Amino acid sequence: MEHHTIVRVANSGDTHYAQTITDEMEASAKARGTGIAKRSPEYVAKKMEEGKAVIAHLPDGTWVGFCYIEVWGHEAFVANSGLIVSPEFRKSGVAKLIKQKIFNLSREKYPQAKIFGLTTGLAVMKINSDLGYEPVTYSELTDDEEFWAGCKSCVNYDILMSKNRKNCMCTAMLYDPADHYEPEETSSDFRKKSKIYERFMKIKQSRLLKMFRKKEGGGAAVKPKSFFHQLFNF
Ligand SMILES: CC(C)(COP(=O)(O)OP(=O)(O)OC[C@H]1O[C@@H](n2cnc3c(N)ncnc32)[C@H](O)[C@@H]1OP(=O)(O)O)[C@@H](O)C(=O)NCCC(=O)NCCS
Repeated sequence: MEHHTIVRVANSGDTHYAQTITDEMEASAKARGTGIAKRSPEYVAKKMEEGKAVIAHLPDGTWVGFCYIEVWGHEAFVANSGLIVSPEFRKSGVAKLIKQKIFNLSREKYPQAKIFGLTTGLAVMKINSDLGYEPVTYSELTDDEEFWAGCKSCVNYDILMSKNRKNCMCTAMLYDPADHYEPEETSSDFRKKSKIYERFMKIKQSRLLKMFRKKEGGGAAVKPKSFFHQLFNF
């Protein structure tokens, strides 16, 4: 499937895809029951016009996937956000191609910037580690208020705020151009431990939820184990 798919930097001729893309973002978030920073078709169209997005489609124009760049903290940080692949084209390597393209575009446009992402998905964590990203604590991300305001439309926003923006359901990953491991090093390490990551991600999320619900109900918060504390900073 992937060899038929065209993956390229989007432009103003692609804005007709914007509504389809945002509809799919919303539908996928609902299906997964997870949170999402909601984006309007206008926002997505603007990213295309600015040359800050990557689109994937078939030669006949059928939409396949999308991702865009956001810039924070006066260009000190860049996020590759809104990754989405049309359900019928999933699991054939399209997301990997899109992320590689948007990563290259980010490096070209903002060579000094740290590139980061927040995700609940193991697929994205795998792809990121192939690119040389590493899991980090939230304190290493941008403190740009506008970035965090994007989380307001996420179903987990109350949890994020209850943790003073230090943790939430998402795992933070960062690529630092000034200080990073070679991709093979991080990805082979991640792959070896990917089942463990998946398990700990689930445990972290369920513990966060438990703590949040106890807090909401006025009970005492559960004391986290030090191992989890180290791994996920909560
Ligand atoms: C997440 C998503 C973008 C992945 O797209 P995709 O084209 O299916 O991904 P790829 O085929 O490129 O797979 C990349 C890697 O992730 C793995 N993967 C894909 N889906 C996975 C899943 N649901 N769970 C675990 N691993 C998965 C693949 O096996 C592959 O790993 P490999 O290199 O070891 O083979 C797609 O499922 C999607 O659009 N989901 C809804 C939106 C979303 O979750 N976006 C991410 C927001 S941060």
